Amino acid sequence: MKTKTSFVCQNCGFHSPKWLGRCPNCGEWNTLIEEIEEEAAVEFSFPPSEPVLYEEIKEAKRERIKSGIEELNSVLGGGIVLGSLVLIGGEPGIGKSTLLLQVSRDFAVQGKKVLYVSGEESLEQIKIRGERLGIQDGKLYLLAETNLERIITHAGKLNPQIFVLDSVQTIFSSKLSSAPGTISQVREVTNQVFRFAKKNHIPSFLIGHITKEGSLAGPKSLEHMVDVVLYFEGERDHSHRVLRALKNRFGPVSELAIFEMGSRGLQPVSNPSAFFLKERPTEEAGSVVVCTIKGSRPLLAEIQALVSSTLFAGNPRRMTIGLDHFRAAMLLAIVERKLGFSFAGEDIYINVAGGLTLDEPATDLAVIMAVVSCLKNKVIPPDLIVFGEVGLSGEIRSVGHPLARLKEAHALGFKTVILPQGNLSQLEKEDIPDIKLEGVQNIKQTLEILF
Ligand SMILES: Nc1ncnc2c1ncn2[C@@H]1O[C@H](COP(=O)(O)OP(=O)(O)OP(=O)(O)O)[C@@H](O)[C@H]1O
Ligand SMILES: [Mg+2]
Ligand SMILES: [Zn+2]
Repeated sequence: MKTKTSFVCQNCGFHSPKWLGRCPNCGEWNTLIEEIEEEAAVEFSFPPSEPVLYEEIKEAKRERIKSGIEELNSVLGGGIVLGSLVLIGGEPGIGKSTLLLQVSRDFAVQGKKVLYVSGEESLEQIKIRGERLGIQDGKLYLLAETNLERIITHAGKLNPQIFVLDSVQTIFSSKLSSAPGTISQVREVTNQVFRFAKKNHIPSFLIGHITKEGSLAGPKSLEHMVDVVLYFEGERDHSHRVLRALKNRFGPVSELAIFEMGSRGLQPVSNPSAFFLKERPTEEAGSVVVCTIKGSRPLLAEIQALVSSTLFAGNPRRMTIGLDHFRAAMLLAIVERKLGFSFAGEDIYINVAGGLTLDEPATDLAVIMAVVSCLKNKVIPPDLIVFGEVGLSGEIRSVGHPLARLKEAHALGFKTVILPQGNLSQLEKEDIPDIKLEGVQNIKQTLEILF
């Protein structure tokens, strides 16, 4: 039985019985989306509530269960909260199904009943992945199904302790006539799974594909409907994957976990800094190590620059990989203006090694140092590390978490740190690890110390 639906303009609220490309009311294009009309039915699925005095509300206890993957627990804020819905987004092929099958295995090994529903793959395909992951016995149930109502019925009967749905774009509700993957469908699927999770106190995971533009399931609108949004990212031709929280109703969003994809599935990387530095050349100009913060953790990464005379006179190339293009262009302009170099005849390539993406201004000074090092063909000492934001007049500005950065540098055996003078002045002497510190105030002074 089809539920009564209509198409509603997301811009002005206009209702139409059928889909229209353009809203006749406000004139916007592609804003009409199928919605269920029976609002009353939704209302009564939850008991009516009454206002309650704040102090009379019992203290909420957040029961969490922990997976055996410690890194995942910490990204979730210490385990998954019972009844919460976690959306895991990532680009095609990045390893979402692998991660959640591993998580499922893990809970099954703990003796928990797990239901893994796939709308994308056959049971045999999932089993092939399972064999690669070394899944043996345990109460792990698989269901290959795309109809949401049937899935919810099965889940209700099986009453699992963990529920996984792969993926939100391939499942459809028979209440709507829209195709799977449309905004109406992904919203309805998310909505029903959310209610199922809450009603039965079952922690649930929902996989969502991200489009190239970076939005989850097409509409960002899913993000506000769930409790936790995690992103699984990485370059497909690199083996590492980063899992981080974008939203978490039950914990901080600062944690992040790094995994390595191998033949036996995803392995947590216990020392990310060492992982990203392991192939660093130590006697080449144009390479420098920066201490950045990813989530709440410091991470050491290598920035490389290559400057070479251009073949495109008048239009030299500026390429950045893993860094913001505009920020890099700004830093090059600062170098030209404040240090008197000219890049008019040079192509410049700047790369973060290992396929990492860094989006913190604290990498500014490292970018400048890598470029100047390459330009002058002078090697930066391999045991030196740097961090600091650079302003438009070439001044070096303080950044957050200086101590955490110093400790990470010290832990990995670095001997000297170039850092903003402002940060150095704030630090308490007794906290500082045994490492040589050079406080700097502008880029000119930095380069005098270096070269
Ligand atoms: N034997 C193997 N050794 C190493 N890596 C492998 C192996 N088999 C698969 N992979 C990796 O697993 C990735 C696919 O993982 P998975 O199917 O979990 O991704 P997904 O995000 O669910 O993809 P989809 O978008 O198709 O659902 C591949 O891109 C590949 O990197
Ligand atoms: Mg998949
Ligand atoms: Zn309209």
